[in-house]
Amino acid sequence: MCGIVGYIGKRDAYPIIIKGLQRLEYRGYDSAGVALYNDNEIHLCKTKGKVSDLKEKAKTDISTEGKLGIGHTRWATHGVPNDVNSHPHYSNSGDLVIIHNGIIENYESIKKELKNRGYTFKSDTDTEVLVNLIEDVQKNEDVKLGKAVQIALNQTVGAYAIAVFSRKKPKEIIVARLGSPLAIGVGEDEYFIASDASPFIEYTSNAIYLEDGEMAVVRTHKPLKILKIKDDSLVAPYIQELQLNLEQIEKGGYEHFMLKEIFEQPQAIKDTFRGRMLEKEGMIKMAGMDEHMNKFLNAKRIVIVACGTSWHAGLVAEYIFEELVRLPVEVEYASEFRYRNPVLEKDDVVIAISQSGETADTMAAMKLAKENGAFVFGVCNVVGSSISREADAGAYTHAGPEIGVASTKAFTTQITVLTLIALKMAYEKGKISKSDFHMHLQELDRIPEKVEKALKYNDHIEKVADKFKDAPNFLYLGRGFNFPVALEGALKLKEISYIHAEGYPAAEMKHGPIALIDEQMPVLVIATRKGHYEKIISNIQEIKSRKGKIIAVVTEGDEQVKDLADYVIEVPETMDSMSPLLTTIPLQLLSYHIAVLLGKNVDQPRNLAKAVTVE
Ligand code: F6R
Repeated sequence: MCGIVGYIGKRDAYPIIIKGLQRLEYRGYDSAGVALYNDNEIHLCKTKGKVSDLKEKAKTDISTEGKLGIGHTRWATHGVPNDVNSHPHYSNSGDLVIIHNGIIENYESIKKELKNRGYTFKSDTDTEVLVNLIEDVQKNEDVKLGKAVQIALNQTVGAYAIAVFSRKKPKEIIVARLGSPLAIGVGEDEYFIASDASPFIEYTSNAIYLEDGEMAVVRTHKPLKILKIKDDSLVAPYIQELQLNLEQIEKGGYEHFMLKEIFEQPQAIKDTFRGRMLEKEGMIKMAGMDEHMNKFLNAKRIVIVACGTSWHAGLVAEYIFEELVRLPVEVEYASEFRYRNPVLEKDDVVIAISQSGETADTMAAMKLAKENGAFVFGVCNVVGSSISREADAGAYTHAGPEIGVASTKAFTTQITVLTLIALKMAYEKGKISKSDFHMHLQELDRIPEKVEKALKYNDHIEKVADKFKDAPNFLYLGRGFNFPVALEGALKLKEISYIHAEGYPAAEMKHGPIALIDEQMPVLVIATRKGHYEKIISNIQEIKSRKGKIIAVVTEGDEQVKDLADYVIEVPETMDSMSPLLTTIPLQLLSYHIAVLLGKNVDQPRNLAKAVTVE
């Protein structure tokens, strides 16, 4: 996700900003930029690429002096990564500059109105719309910059952390946050602004973390002012003393990126809904799908191509599509699909799923599908990635950068997007009633909160991990919607702990794997109440009578499985079709803790790469 840095005070702003941006590199980004004030002018430099590219460019393009400035690393959401879409963005007059982390959902309607009033736009970003809205408010209402920012933000829907300053009043930086983080470092006659404390930890250990819905006027000639965006009311600054070291801050206090990303899932799933699931209106809005609705409505079949964890998300989607849309679905390993002679019809919708958007096999499979006349829809996380560009249309997962090599939040957000697609198709095809559709939307809306609850069992899961860390093999069993989750759980364990693990549909066990079971074999069984519960209990009994060790993932309050299993891990109750979003959480945590206890390199397991761009 984007990174924000700002400085106002007695020191040169540029080196502080550049170093700060480098500290935020871990967040993942595709471009960088800086705007400084000196000599009555704003000096702005930005580029696609790394902070080191920005430094090179700034050497020749701008004066890097000045005691006030803002800087940004961009993770593209609106508009591909390029120089023009990079931040900061000027307003039309050139008087204001802004940096922004987040998404302004209603930017298109604001842009239309501003265009009618004569504003022009250089970039495809929602951010350039926001800075011009602020300028427009300031012009029409003749108010100070802070007030203009407040009025403008009250007209927006979405999420943001912003920093903006004006050439006309270069003594203050206005910052605001809603849904995206923003910290203010408090020094002596100087302030630092950043997405987290890592850019300023070496200068001050005093920080104010803005709360959602707050903004601040950051200035050195008068006291810092914090107020509520909604109604202007003043908020007393609460200064915290930071105890963290740099390394910890970059990982947000977590020991590993993987753990951080597991814990980010409630927010990541919310970000995936954002602006799409209009629960009150009873609608799902997805631009990429809306523009090609006839393709989805006329589809005779859905073919999903993907690799690894993304393939598992595709398998979950198969169950969801078949249940809700009543269409045949085939889920293909992209690497197999591309080398077969697959039968494809022009009425097939092919969905390519990829976190990185760069997986070579998935890319080749989608090209093959296109050559055969199929309509290809991409589900990617990385904006502007090759697969997202190659697809006829698509939807981003908006999970934010996933740095740990083992996919976690990418998986749950992929399932979320695929659920939205299936629900929209089912409703528009008349396969589910309005009340059923609403019920699904309401439950999906509750999922982030339930994921949060599932994460609360982390300490208990760590203890279970300790019991089984030395097992050389593991079996993972699940049925129905949770069979792919069993596969995913086994993959997570294999890739980060190097323990051999296999996932199976629970009923298949008796056709072979049951021969493996003895007192040494841990078997993780997903046994939630709504998914073939009685059948799963029989499977558990089969394991128990062969002395296998059972770790069961159960619905909160379950008593029956508790009596049979050696260890149980609870997840909140939900609809069967949404249970993978919850049951996957303990499996991620279990493999994480086992790998940590074994001293493995969790974030960068041996032999693996985050984007597999080779065959
Ligand atoms: C597993 C994992 C891999 C990827 C696979 C596809 O944790 O990360 O199995 O899921 O390489 O990658 P994407 O989704 O980027 O196409």
